[in-house]
Amino acid sequence: MNHINNSQQLAQTLLPLSEFITRRDNFFAQMPENSIAIFKAASEVTRSNDTEYAFCQNKNFYYLTGFNEPDALLVMIKGEYNQAFIFCRDKDPLTEIWQGRRIGTSKAKTNYGFDDSFIIEEIGGSLPELIKNKEHLLYCQGENQAFDMQVMAWLTQVKKSVKQGAKAPTNSIDCAAIVHELRLIKSDSEIAIMRQGNKISCGAHQRAMQKTSAGKFEYQIEAELLHEFTRHGARHAAYASIVAGGDNANILHYTDNNDTLKNNDLLLIDAGAELAGYAADITRTFPVNGKFSVEQKALYELVLKSQNAAINEVKIGNTFAVLNVLVNEILTQGLIELGILTGDLTTLIKEKACKKYFIHGLGHWLGLDVHDVGDYQVNTEKQQCRKFEVGMVMTIEPGLYIPLDDDSVDKKWRGIGIRIEDNILVTEPAITHSGYENLTAAAVKSVADIEKQCIK
Ligand code: GLY
Ligand code: MN
Ligand code: MN
Repeated sequence: MNHINNSQQLAQTLLPLSEFITRRDNFFAQMPENSIAIFKAASEVTRSNDTEYAFCQNKNFYYLTGFNEPDALLVMIKGEYNQAFIFCRDKDPLTEIWQGRRIGTSKAKTNYGFDDSFIIEEIGGSLPELIKNKEHLLYCQGENQAFDMQVMAWLTQVKKSVKQGAKAPTNSIDCAAIVHELRLIKSDSEIAIMRQGNKISCGAHQRAMQKTSAGKFEYQIEAELLHEFTRHGARHAAYASIVAGGDNANILHYTDNNDTLKNNDLLLIDAGAELAGYAADITRTFPVNGKFSVEQKALYELVLKSQNAAINEVKIGNTFAVLNVLVNEILTQGLIELGILTGDLTTLIKEKACKKYFIHGLGHWLGLDVHDVGDYQVNTEKQQCRKFEVGMVMTIEPGLYIPLDDDSVDKKWRGIGIRIEDNILVTEPAITHSGYENLTAAAVKSVADIEKQCIK
């Protein structure tokens, strides 16, 4: 069978039960003695009346379980023996005829490696019992107000039984940061999944370049992206695709995608597939008619130069702060050469003058969430930029945006918005020589390659 068509099975193979057991072991290792941790699955979200949005699992819950159903609870107990329990929906033949198959408690236990499983309706009676006599209570605080209140209600119930000799936890801990730190460093399995998700996503960008022409609607190009994601087994986009022709690219989170594409405009596409929960996040900008104008090319090559320079500096020990300095220098110098900024180079660099046109961050962590978890600043004051480590995946995405109504700039530059975004893995230098692997290198980005790709 075609390798890429088999992505879903591949994802299952690459994320075996042992991966989730290792993740839970890593979390157990960071729980204090005599503690209980509780994680809640996501619930379905109503779109209108009796229809729901496509289900998206809570990513911390998914990271620790691989369990992709709503209305479930993971309970982890660290004591003499570590134990992990799942509470989930039971099998129900009639409901399943209408709403789809359920895993049920029996398969939840055996297929997902839990010590025991219970029906979700039992949490009211069981959780206070499980919380009783533990010293520490861990959960992700502030994620879901109703869940916070439910945990507090269980705790209150335990406190009421203190008179009968039970002890209630004296310490309640927000454990989100523990899971987030684990999620930040990707395992070999996660990297393999992300490579595959990116391969599919790069194919979608290539297809979009081929299918784009003046007169089409932006949403028609969005359809080409989704077609390519889905036919290769990635059933959802990782986030709402941005398909922004001309001046629409200057709206950073443009998702209306309902304009017609114009002959002399650029088209900015920011889109990535989600595969087995993992996001790709790629931006390419290319000419609707397949040929960059002089101004478009000049700005594009400047963004590309800064992006390539930043990517080349992704390696162990470097930081986003270092990369930002480099990009600021390159963009400022380039904008002066193009006559868009005027003044003294050193002063303009110091003032970060290019930020008028490069209005967002240079990049972010990437993984189960598109803007993935994990601190950017470390040390106690959270002021020191975090050093890159092997297994981190990040985006590098500089851009330049000159809106149509910006009359401080020569008319010829107006209405151009450009971003170029790749997904970069930090590697052992001995493995790649460079210290990084560009997971999205298959989506062409040089002017010559893009113009070739755009030929119909
Ligand atoms: N697609 C959202 C971002 O690039 O951050
Ligand atoms: Mn991004
Ligand atoms: Mn993006």
